[in-house]
Amino acid sequence: DWTMRAFREEEIAKIRQQVGKGKVICGLSGGVDSAVAAVLIHEAIGDQLTCVFVDHGLLRLDEAKTVVDLFRHHYNIPLVHVDASKQFLGELEGVTDPETKRKTIGRLFIEVFEQEAKKIGGADFLAQGTLYPDVIESVSFTGGPSVTIKSHHNVGGLPERMNMKLVEPLRELFKDEVRKLGRELGLPEIFVGRHPFPGPGLAIRCPGDITRDKLDILRKADAVYIDQIRKHGLYDEIWQAFAVLLPVKTVGVMGDGRTYDYVVGLRAVTSTDGMTADFYQFDMKFLGETATRIINEVKGVNRVVYDVTSKPPGTIEWE
Ligand code: XMP
Repeated sequence: DWTMRAFREEEIAKIRQQVGKGKVICGLSGGVDSAVAAVLIHEAIGDQLTCVFVDHGLLRLDEAKTVVDLFRHHYNIPLVHVDASKQFLGELEGVTDPETKRKTIGRLFIEVFEQEAKKIGGADFLAQGTLYPDVIESVSFTGGPSVTIKSHHNVGGLPERMNMKLVEPLRELFKDEVRKLGRELGLPEIFVGRHPFPGPGLAIRCPGDITRDKLDILRKADAVYIDQIRKHGLYDEIWQAFAVLLPVKTVGVMGDGRTYDYVVGLRAVTSTDGMTADFYQFDMKFLGETATRIINEVKGVNRVVYDVTSKPPGTIEWE
């Protein structure tokens, strides 16, 4: 892609000019944006960049391993991997309000990140994979009063506190352009094509209070759902698909016994920027087969429902 090749060259020159001989630290989330930003910056300034991956215990199945493998082994980019799940899940205990979850996670993320930055001797710059839609959404909506629908924790806070300047090479790009740039930089297709994943992770896909048990059930159900979608060749038609673990138990029968287990909600939407979205029209056979697989393969689940709400009036996530 010609435009992306040119963009890559231009941004590399800009990053070198901005950073000089300074040190840069970049927080990886496991998502496409921060990964593309990190690889681009690494290409520009090499080992002046250190990446920090904070595992908050709210990631999808095998996510941490995927990120570590990609950065350390495939790209040879210095990466600090912090398992902070105990701290995050501890502080989230009993928290049920969605915005309190986000704020708790955002605050802890900053704390853990700061500690790690100190350990490596600090940095002059903070790199972020901020996209154009993030830039607009974190300002207020035009015309009306300033309303926060959901606070996104990946913008703001950190740089001022740590006295660092920002490096945000993706600020002018939309999601599809970031993917093109990722391909241009040689990121594996399976990674570049991944659906967006929110910073607060599974915390906002587990309405009500969060426990390790619930997270384990959710991770397994989500993995089966995504496997089904990939096997049917539907993954790339969908903007985002994920499972939600409802804080509800219902009665079922299995063999000759009564069960009393959780309900899993399935979500899939099409969208171009996440601002509006339509629910995805799976065929019923696919949904039935997926429900059967989840119930058979995931202990603790005995009922599956499909969400047919578009955005608006719904949001993509359930919290
Ligand atoms: P909603 O649920 O607001 O989501 O329709 C729109 C897009 O934003 C993602 N999302 C978040 N991303 N921190 C993030 O980094 C958040 O707190 C957050 N909340 C929602 C969501 O996954 C979708 O892509």
